[in-house]
Amino acid sequence: MIGFIGGTGPEGRGLALRFALAGEKIFIGSREKDRGIAVAQQISKHCPGSVEGGDNYEASNKADIVIIATPYAPQKDTINSLKSNLDDKLIINVIAPLSFNKGNISSIRVEDGSAALECQKLLPNSSVVSAFNNISAQDLLKKDKKIDCDVIICGDDEISKKIVMTLAEKISSVRAIDGGRLENSRYVEDLTALLLNINKIYKWHSSIKIVS
Ligand SMILES: NC(=O)c1ccc[n+]([C@@H]2O[C@H](COP(=O)([O-])OP(=O)(O)OC[C@H]3O[C@@H](n4cnc5c(N)ncnc54)[C@H](OP(=O)(O)O)[C@@H]3O)[C@@H](O)[C@H]2O)c1
Repeated sequence: MIGFIGGTGPEGRGLALRFALAGEKIFIGSREKDRGIAVAQQISKHCPGSVEGGDNYEASNKADIVIIATPYAPQKDTINSLKSNLDDKLIINVIAPLSFNKGNISSIRVEDGSAALECQKLLPNSSVVSAFNNISAQDLLKKDKKIDCDVIICGDDEISKKIVMTLAEKISSVRAIDGGRLENSRYVEDLTALLLNINKIYKWHSSIKIVS
């Protein structure tokens, strides 16, 4: 089962919808159990029987793979409060640390290098992989929309990274790109700020594609 921490936001809902449509079992976690249940019920309309919901504790407890989909600011406290459930699991970090100031979107400097590196430091017994940082939630939420983009996946454990690459390619037209070690997640996270500024200028939902 794939559990989402902060799964009620657009990114969590969008990824959950796509993975559920691909046949994965999903648990939507929230700080508020009822909100997690309500969002799970909404997603279930498109894929009955595949999506449960509740609080973040339950999501992290039941899942084998946990996706952290909160904003950056509460990451540390959220992870620390769920640490015993997250230990030894495969964690997918989708966070792009961003600040919004006078119409400009910037990436936030993270002391540990990136949100994913901070997450790995907080969870030394888990395998953290960063992915999906650049994919538009608005596009994910349109269940029939083809998302022709690359998802760059960074992680230090090759087996975990392969699992996440296979998962990413369950979203139709998405190609998974091995982005190397988790240390490289800083570049992928930063790119999100650029994409969001481009979106503002062109009114797009931009994403990335690597050309060889
Ligand atoms: N939106 C996108 O297009 C997009 C694309 C790529 C990556 N991302 C990244 O994905 C993450 C989620 O994006 P989003 O747009 O879905 O974010 P969001 O809507 O701002 O937040 C997602 C969920 O996090 C929980 N949350 C909010 N504040 C919290 C707090 N102080 N403590 C604990 N939980 C809190 C909320 O769930 P509950 O209130 O139910 O607990 C909320 O629904 C972000 O880090 C973002 O950078 C987003």
